[in-house]
Amino acid sequence: MSQLEIRPAAAADLPAITGIYEHAVLYGTATFELIPPDLAEMTRRFAALIDGGFPYLIAALESRVVGYAYAGAYRPRPAYRFTVENSVYLQPAIHRRGIGMQLLQRLIAESEQRGYRQMIAVIGDSANAGSIGVHSKCGFQMIGTHPNVGLKFGRWLDTVMMQRALGEGAETLPTS
Ligand SMILES: CC(C)(COP(=O)(O)OP(=O)(O)OC[C@H]1O[C@@H](n2cnc3c(N)ncnc32)[C@H](O)[C@@H]1OP(=O)(O)O)[C@@H](O)C(=O)NCCC(=O)NCCS
Repeated sequence: MSQLEIRPAAAADLPAITGIYEHAVLYGTATFELIPPDLAEMTRRFAALIDGGFPYLIAALESRVVGYAYAGAYRPRPAYRFTVENSVYLQPAIHRRGIGMQLLQRLIAESEQRGYRQMIAVIGDSANAGSIGVHSKCGFQMIGTHPNVGLKFGRWLDTVMMQRALGEGAETLPTS
């Protein structure tokens, strides 16, 4: 396979990221968005994550962005401040070549470096074997399923909750 590069995302990557997410919104059930956000909205979301100090990564093959992953606040209330929720999306053509796993592993490492203690995946559609598989392989435990909480493409969809401790997890209390 061509050389894979995983690096922090930059503003110049956002058109490619917007395109990857657009495909996932229009044709997939991993996300419960129904209308693809445009470049301006994806730029606003990116800036909010970067301003918040969260990791946002891309995967590139021969300098072409083929996937991205980021972590963001799980919930806004302050007691959740050591818990992040992750997202990872690849171009369909390059699924099942280990790229999703490498992106997620790097995202885990970057989140640990920032001191976060738990990472949660909220996976759209319990039939999403790819996402459940890659999260399991990266050490996430199955927490449970919220049945029939989404409606997309004319059918009810579950969300699957998976979770992984980061760094020392709950073994110690943070100093700050
Ligand atoms: C989910 C996604 C990021 C996985 O990335 P990927 O590069 O295709 O997955 P990888 O090749 O890294 O797979 C790593 C492991 O996960 C598991 N896995 C991946 N895809 C799988 C599938 N379709 N079925 C079962 N297990 C799967 C396997 O254990 C695999 O290891 P193996 O190939 O050695 O058996 C990618 O499929 C994707 O972008 N899907 C659409 C969007 C999406 O669902 N995003 C997640 C939102 S929560």
